[in-house]
Amino acid sequence: MKTIDSLGDLRGKRVLVRSDFNVPLDGTTITDDGRIRAALPTLTRLRDAGARVVVTAHLGRPKGEPDAKYSLAPVAARLGELLGAEVRLAQDVVGPSARETVEALADGDVALLENVRFDARETSKTDAEREELARELAELADAFVSDGFGVVHRKQASVYDVAKLLPSAAGDLVLREVESLSKATTDPARPYAVVLGGSKVSDKLGVIANLLTKADRLLVGGGMVFTFLAAKGYGVGASLLEEDQVETVKGYLATAEENGVEIVLPTDVVVADRFAADSPHDVVPAEGIPEGRMGLDIGPASGAAFAAKLADAKTIAWNGPMGVFEFDAFAGGTRAVAQGIVDATANGAFSIVGGGDSAAAVRQLGFDEAGFSHISTGGGASLELLEGKTLPGIQVLED
Ligand code: 3PG
Repeated sequence: MKTIDSLGDLRGKRVLVRSDFNVPLDGTTITDDGRIRAALPTLTRLRDAGARVVVTAHLGRPKGEPDAKYSLAPVAARLGELLGAEVRLAQDVVGPSARETVEALADGDVALLENVRFDARETSKTDAEREELARELAELADAFVSDGFGVVHRKQASVYDVAKLLPSAAGDLVLREVESLSKATTDPARPYAVVLGGSKVSDKLGVIANLLTKADRLLVGGGMVFTFLAAKGYGVGASLLEEDQVETVKGYLATAEENGVEIVLPTDVVVADRFAADSPHDVVPAEGIPEGRMGLDIGPASGAAFAAKLADAKTIAWNGPMGVFEFDAFAGGTRAVAQGIVDATANGAFSIVGGGDSAAAVRQLGFDEAGFSHISTGGGASLELLEGKTLPGIQVLED
């Protein structure tokens, strides 16, 4: 992949950087600024090189028109604090305010364009429409740096099309992410254990199918595990269940057996009366979830068993929490897995945490990020790499 060095002397040059600032918000308060922090090395490097830095990014999924709820204003403020420098926010994506903001930049300054998804052309399925927006973005800059790893699986104007119009390079975050994830996808040190959680099996079909040919062990928790338990013939009460995926999951269980891949499921579950932090809850055997109660976490015996299955692993990938970790009563499984991964990493394993939720869980549960080999900023992007796919936003940066 082309690197920033290949862009030559950047002093006085306008450099368009695509970042992923899709951060969780509570109103206008950023609840986890991990993705903004992850963007700092590239931005600082460009500033130090004397570039005039123009950042384009998205937040949420606005409907192709301005929507104050998805404004990047809170991000501009936080980015300014972290950089220790003012970050001016243009009031539009590529319009008069964007042009004026870029013109006012001095060497080493940083400006942010308003949410690129306020322009419907960004996500258009029509090449010509995306290309038109890409041309307008390209007019604002002399070079392009792609550093929004979380969005490189999207063939969108500010990720893919603009890279074809300007001298382009991968930023440091994209390089680091791809390098780390490649360690798991190409010839991983074994045993290779993968922990999958999160709510839906249907979001992870591709990755599971691929892992059944690559991993040695697949540990499953989170909301998606109830579809696995149902596939084994257990009743799951009022737990999350994707009935239309039960047959597919039965197929996975059979393939895993044929391929010698161990699928590890919880043997106990924390069940609650309702989805609430203060709901009454109990630990029950996985095959004995009572009617009307819902599983919100894997149980303590399962947490310990999962950690034991990670202890001797040499490569670990983790995507998706084991339970509703945002509620203290249902955070035990996620905590046990995180601790298991930290211990295995201290023992020499290479560990990757992927998916916005697991990365947020690590931080919210108070783990030191240094305890993991790599915490990915990508959700879908890291899953698609684990799936073995070629991602458009990466492919376009190849030499
Ligand atoms: C993410 O949060 O995974 C990325 O920012 C991509 O967002 P998207 O799924 O809305 O394209």
